[in-house]
Amino acid sequence: MDSYKEYYEVVGEKPNSLVVEALKDFTTTKSKALDLGAGNLRDSKFLLSKGFKKIVAVDKDEVTRKFLVPKIDLHITAIEDFIPETNTFDFALSCNTLFFLDQSRVSRILHRVFAGLKPKGIFVFNVLGNDDDWVLQQRPVYSYSDRELETLAVRIGYEVLGLGEGRYNSYFMSQEGPLPKFWHQLSLAVRKP
Ligand SMILES: C[S@@+](CC[C@H](N)C(=O)[O-])C[C@H]1O[C@@H](n2cnc3c(N)ncnc32)[C@H](O)[C@@H]1O
Repeated sequence: MDSYKEYYEVVGEKPNSLVVEALKDFTTTKSKALDLGAGNLRDSKFLLSKGFKKIVAVDKDEVTRKFLVPKIDLHITAIEDFIPETNTFDFALSCNTLFFLDQSRVSRILHRVFAGLKPKGIFVFNVLGNDDDWVLQQRPVYSYSDRELETLAVRIGYEVLGLGEGRYNSYFMSQEGPLPKFWHQLSLAVRKP
């Protein structure tokens, strides 16, 4: 099922700003990266263009295969079922995806990514904040306060490098076309010590 067709048409190849900014702000070695909820692989391809040698990308939707290029090792599976190789990744990301998973699954994923990162490896991801329209409309999404998100990461052992918050009126891509929405997003950049 190509449920993200309209979304991919709109976002195109432009990488998420969270990933672009993280690479500017934090120095990391660039051998292997992990992209969870990789979608049309726009962030994976951006990381390759920035010198990463290999990307492991995970998405549950078969449609991601359509976007595959060399040097990306794609796993079509649920993120919550994927166990990253330990002590392997310099950089990990999950953009616009983890809010579909409940907090216990997100916590398990954060633990597994921690184990998968090399020392000094960085993980950037975003979730929804409590004032997001989808949260207030009680859609099947999960949200956090900034303190809850930070606490979750710190308990696992991550160092917090930065916490970002965005509140804005914009759109989301539905199968009927763009629909207006108030977005409240939290993003976190963390490092394995
Ligand atoms: C809104 S898209 C974001 C894609 C990409 N990260 C981006 O920012 O363009 C969400 C993606 O997460 C995937 N996804 C959602 N829940 C998932 C899960 N539990 N396991 C694996 N992939 C999942 C969807 O198939 C989709 O490709």
